[in-house]
Amino acid sequence: MIDLLQKHAKTGPSNKHGVLAAVETLHDCSDPHNTRIRETAKGSKSQCQIKDLFLMHYIRLLKPPRYSARPRNRNGSVSALITITSDLGDDFYFRDTVLTAEVLQESGDPRLVLASKEFHWKMGMRVLKIELNVAPSKHNFYDSVILAISSAAGGTPVADDISHPRDGGLEIITAYSPPFRPIDGEEAEKFVQRRIMIDPSKTLRIWEETGESIARHIWDGGLALTAYLAQNASSEAFSTDKLNALHKQLNPRKTLRALELGSGCGVVGLSLAALYEKCHVTMTDLSSAEEILMKNIEDYNSNFQGEVEFRVLDWDQAIPESLASRSWDIIVIADCTYNTASAHSLVNVLKSLVGKSPDTVVVLAHKRRHDSEVLFFELMNAVFGMVDRVSFHNGNLETEISVDIYTFKVMIKGS
Ligand SMILES: C[S@@+](CC[C@H](N)C(=O)[O-])C[C@H]1O[C@@H](n2cnc3c(N)ncnc32)[C@H](O)[C@@H]1O
Repeated sequence: MIDLLQKHAKTGPSNKHGVLAAVETLHDCSDPHNTRIRETAKGSKSQCQIKDLFLMHYIRLLKPPRYSARPRNRNGSVSALITITSDLGDDFYFRDTVLTAEVLQESGDPRLVLASKEFHWKMGMRVLKIELNVAPSKHNFYDSVILAISSAAGGTPVADDISHPRDGGLEIITAYSPPFRPIDGEEAEKFVQRRIMIDPSKTLRIWEETGESIARHIWDGGLALTAYLAQNASSEAFSTDKLNALHKQLNPRKTLRALELGSGCGVVGLSLAALYEKCHVTMTDLSSAEEILMKNIEDYNSNFQGEVEFRVLDWDQAIPESLASRSWDIIVIADCTYNTASAHSLVNVLKSLVGKSPDTVVVLAHKRRHDSEVLFFELMNAVFGMVDRVSFHNGNLETEISVDIYTFKVMIKGS
């Protein structure tokens, strides 16, 4: 089944049943607390747990928003079909909750709320139809609108805030549709945007595809690593005596040369670039991720000063010379260890990349998908030592599944 996920990653979207079948096996968690993996990652010096809510559910647009005009009374309506699932799409949101859907015109400041309505998501639900009436007097037909759907109290937020640790709260990630015109039959493109606040003055806008691809949507590991980087970027973090290898490498006074493996939509790489002004981030993935990543690079806020680029890097192929010849301060990887068949090649890529820069820190986000992932950590032990681990926890669930953020450094023999 894990093979299926790898095949899927290389070939792009496949049928829904294929992915969901893979997911069922991946959920065979006999060690929900990652004990084996945590014990395998050697040399832990610090282990802290952040009581944070990090078992995300994502509002997904199963059918994109569509505008229908009602010529007789000059009203219109916007409809869409949504669901709320985990990153793998296997697990539907399990509590009753109130969602707010808003049709917004964002061309002005402040944004104009054209229609707003509450919908009730009930435990056990798999899909929910959204439909809102839009009064004609309220909108300018020439301007596009978007549909935003959120579980936040008080209307749809400007962004989902992960810039600071929280005790509960952010459980469901808001969906923002692409813009579409309020003209009969107009439909939004099949993308969904996530707006992630990584600093009170910095919000990333990341597009995902609405289909079931592995590379073309955001995963919990990516979101947790983004939160971790965002929460370490504050000046207070640098002044504490807990300064670890990562903090040293992330000193904002230095130019940071960062590489990301398996970037997917690029949430981690783009946030690094946004957080650290003197920073150059090279994001890499299979070519199947190129289109969505380039879309996100194009939309990357030009006010952020860090530079970003994308290169194809397949762990099963030779590393392109343009990457192999460079040295890196930090290598980031989120949610890329699910496939045991790739464990050797991923670790070999890491070994080669740190050859030119033995001081590199490798920061890895791991959401446990299967027991056999322990192989990756066993292979890492031959070259790297773990210097830090932080857990992003979901304290509300009985199983307490977490995303662990491991920081590794090249092990010096005899140390
Ligand atoms: C679960 S996704 C994680 C995406 C992103 N890091 C995140 O957390 O949102 C795994 C990523 O690894 C990439 N990947 C899988 N096998 C790969 C390989 N052999 N070489 C390069 N990238 C690979 C996939 O294309 C995908 O983007």
